[in-house]
Amino acid sequence: MDRLRGKVAVITGGAGGIGAATVRRFVEEGAQVTIADLDHSKGRALAEDLGPATTFVPTDVSREEDVAAMVAETESRFGRIDVLLNNAGFGGALGPIESTSVADYDLTMDVLLKSVFLGMKHVAPRMKAQGSGSIISTSSVGGLRAGYAPHLYSVAKSAVIHLTRSVALELGEHGVRVNAICPGLIATPLAAGRSDADATRIEQLRVASAASQVLGRVGEPDDVANTALFLAGDESQWITGQHFVVDGGFEAGPPWSQWPEFARVKRPVRHHRPPGR
Ligand SMILES: NC(=O)c1ccc[n+]([C@@H]2O[C@H](COP(=O)([O-])OP(=O)(O)OC[C@H]3O[C@@H](n4cnc5c(N)ncnc54)[C@H](O)[C@@H]3O)[C@@H](O)[C@H]2O)c1
Repeated sequence: MDRLRGKVAVITGGAGGIGAATVRRFVEEGAQVTIADLDHSKGRALAEDLGPATTFVPTDVSREEDVAAMVAETESRFGRIDVLLNNAGFGGALGPIESTSVADYDLTMDVLLKSVFLGMKHVAPRMKAQGSGSIISTSSVGGLRAGYAPHLYSVAKSAVIHLTRSVALELGEHGVRVNAICPGLIATPLAAGRSDADATRIEQLRVASAASQVLGRVGEPDDVANTALFLAGDESQWITGQHFVVDGGFEAGPPWSQWPEFARVKRPVRHHRPPGR
């Protein structure tokens, strides 16, 4: 119950899905939390439900002035910032590369990548001054392998992992840790294909996708929230510059038995000979 006692956290995208589950988990463990999100009604409702340990700050994470103001407001209300979870996101640009507009490219990168840069940029001075802090960013298995997600989503999430490593190397000497989480398929409105997906639609996703999952179920927001809790707290104090795959085994790859051409068909083995030998 006290794993985050005395700590102050900012959670972007904290009004819904993975972010809201993490807000609840952090508050259960004693943290004070700023919920930073575009969605005013869900953000306010969650803050009202959880009481004075939380505050909702309307924020568009792709705008520097919003991020700077939200970080300043958190500090003035709670006195410090120990944890930042850069988590806000959306599906971004869809479709073939040739029909992707530059405006959609910019929006996707702004929401999924620039936001992470802005969050890191604005908490870093505070955390350096304290000599401690944990910055966590929600990447994706789509950032590890092409084909799991649309082009630009994958690229942005991949860049989040690399930014995590790079900034971890800079901030380590100040006691600030920087890590990322790569969720697999998690039962949220985003995974159900629309930000206003209701409980029925999310349940349909669970049922339709369970059989494709190694552990026989899709992930739940709490699966990611529990990993964020570990990375936010002192149990992970010697871990930085890493990404943690939370995907129920999905990224381990399809079992060989699901590839009939490899499992059952006998193929002649081709030995490669370098030219001229
Ligand atoms: N659900 C999955 O299967 C899955 C898998 C891998 C990674 N992720 C990542 O996890 C994170 C959370 O996604 P989720 O599944 O909980 O989605 P969600 O749609 O349930 O929640 C996303 C939240 O981000 C907020 N948001 C969107 N754009 C914003 C902006 N510009 N400024 C501030 N807030 C904004 C939304 O209002 C919403 O509350 C995202 O970064 C997503 O890419 C999700």
